[in-house]
Amino acid sequence: MDFVLKSCKLREFQPSDAGAIARLANNPAIASNLRDAFPSPYTFDKAVSWLEMVEFNKQNFLRAIIVDGELAGSVGLHACHDVYRFNLELGYWLGEPFWNRGIMTEVVKAIVAIGFNELKAHRIFAGIFGFNTASARVLQKCGFKHEATLHQSVFKNGQWADELVFALINPQHVDQ
Ligand SMILES: CC(C)(COP(=O)(O)OP(=O)(O)OC[C@H]1O[C@@H](n2cnc3c(N)ncnc32)[C@H](O)[C@@H]1OP(=O)(O)O)[C@@H](O)C(=O)NCCC(=O)NCCS
Repeated sequence: MDFVLKSCKLREFQPSDAGAIARLANNPAIASNLRDAFPSPYTFDKAVSWLEMVEFNKQNFLRAIIVDGELAGSVGLHACHDVYRFNLELGYWLGEPFWNRGIMTEVVKAIVAIGFNELKAHRIFAGIFGFNTASARVLQKCGFKHEATLHQSVFKNGQWADELVFALINPQHVDQ
């Protein structure tokens, strides 16, 4: 199912997205803000493998962000397990040509609504690196609360960094 927003559309990934993903995601300005599982360099073959994983693993809710008919990025809600099973972990990236137009703020608001209303999450959270001011701003604009700073928990590109945990509790569950 597609979700049509003002600035973009969210649709399921398809195998033909590999070229566009590799082109946009092969950018250290993106990779430096993400876990090392996000490849850098991001080759076409890595994109193909990732798309195969998406097709295979339907537990996670992943969507391509499409701007003016062009793939612009990715957003996902990742399933948690055991006692965390009513949590979803939010992740996202946008190609650099699309930054600072309010796109991810709109996307996060939309996917949060899907997470709470369709996927019945109790809590949606994101862990971001302490230096990622743009991502912190996106989450603040979407009403997320800065819950914790995990000091020097991250080792990225040869340096220690803090992780900031942002979260939102399903407003329909408050006071239950
Ligand atoms: C983080 C990211 C998704 C933001 O997407 P976006 O569509 O550009 O975000 P928006 O335009 O909705 O909002 C960005 C906000 O950050 C602000 N911002 C951007 N760069 C900034 C900086 N260096 N310092 C301070 N604020 C900054 C913008 O001004 C804007 O805030 P405003 O609306 O109050 O002016 C995008 O930059 C990205 O993909 N980065 C690389 C990958 C990444 O960080 N993913 C998230 C990992 S947790």
